[in-house]
Amino acid sequence: MAHILVTGGAGYVGAVVTARLQQAGHSATVVDNLSTGHRAAVSGARLVEADLEDDAALEGIFSAESFAGVVHFASHCRVEESIVHPVKYFRDNVGGSLKLFDAMLRHGVKALVFSSSCAVYGEPSQVPITEDQPLDPINPYGESKLFVERILKAYQRAYGMRSVSLRYFNACGAAVDGRLGESHHPETHLIPLVLRAAADGDYALTLFGNDYPTPDGTCVRDYIHVEDLATAHLAALKRLLEGMGREVYNIGTGNGLSVRQIIESAQRVTGSRVRHTVGPRRDGDPPVLVADASRAKSALGWTPRYSDPATILGTAWNWFRNPRY
Ligand code: UFG
Repeated sequence: MAHILVTGGAGYVGAVVTARLQQAGHSATVVDNLSTGHRAAVSGARLVEADLEDDAALEGIFSAESFAGVVHFASHCRVEESIVHPVKYFRDNVGGSLKLFDAMLRHGVKALVFSSSCAVYGEPSQVPITEDQPLDPINPYGESKLFVERILKAYQRAYGMRSVSLRYFNACGAAVDGRLGESHHPETHLIPLVLRAAADGDYALTLFGNDYPTPDGTCVRDYIHVEDLATAHLAALKRLLEGMGREVYNIGTGNGLSVRQIIESAQRVTGSRVRHTVGPRRDGDPPVLVADASRAKSALGWTPRYSDPATILGTAWNWFRNPRY
């Protein structure tokens, strides 16, 4: 069993992974600046409130404790914001990662699981998307994730830093025990907004575009439950602790769901109508993003178990009605 540093462990995915790491017998320290994370999402782990850009804080963390590895979530992750404020994405996502890796190398910690994104592919020429397809992000968020992947490649060669980058597709759902879930302010993601429309008859979701070249005209995404993301992180960490080198995996189900299909599932799960209006396309939205996740399935022995629409919407609805933070 290992002691792990989790950056961004008070955030949506980070908190679920931290909890599941502890359930698997590992111990964790979380570093999070709480800019979007929640103190109440961290339990059973030490929480250090700090920015990754804070050299002194990082030095303090790595001097005080000895880590077998790092799971690195901390980053900004809003595509639209990244187009308007790219400086946040390059300075914090890339700059913060560089500072973290400096501290790791100074202290001889050379195993890292990195939260990457399907945004590294941009508008894919083929779906489902394999890891070998061209990397051509169409927004600074995706660029920042790709930059960090490239840094990790160079650092492996130069410094022996071992890493597994997990390219998530659309993270969604809430912890099956109801203790952890998604609380973004402002909320921009589809599923929480669909549930808001189901709960509040006065709120109507804006559906961003119904003229895409997809079966029902709305965007298709590969929705992956946060519990399945957590098992992928545990499997990746296991590989690293066994001494594996640099690896990159898509983490998705391989099944695409359209915005309209999500609305229909939400109506089934909640028993309420989801009011919506059709608006223009949102800048930077590719029509279809679906993973070919066969590499993760075979190499990590990973299988998604919670990513069917009923479980995704059911756990998310449970959290929506009873959020803990
Ligand atoms: N959508 C709407 N109305 C809304 C919100 C979303 O129609 O109010 C649509 C979007 O156009 C998109 C789909 O619902 O087609 C999903 O949108 P989300 O905002 O929930 O998720 P994204 O697909 O935009 O973003 C996800 C991750 C990002 C990642 C990106 C890669 O959240 O971190 O995929 O493109 F970068």
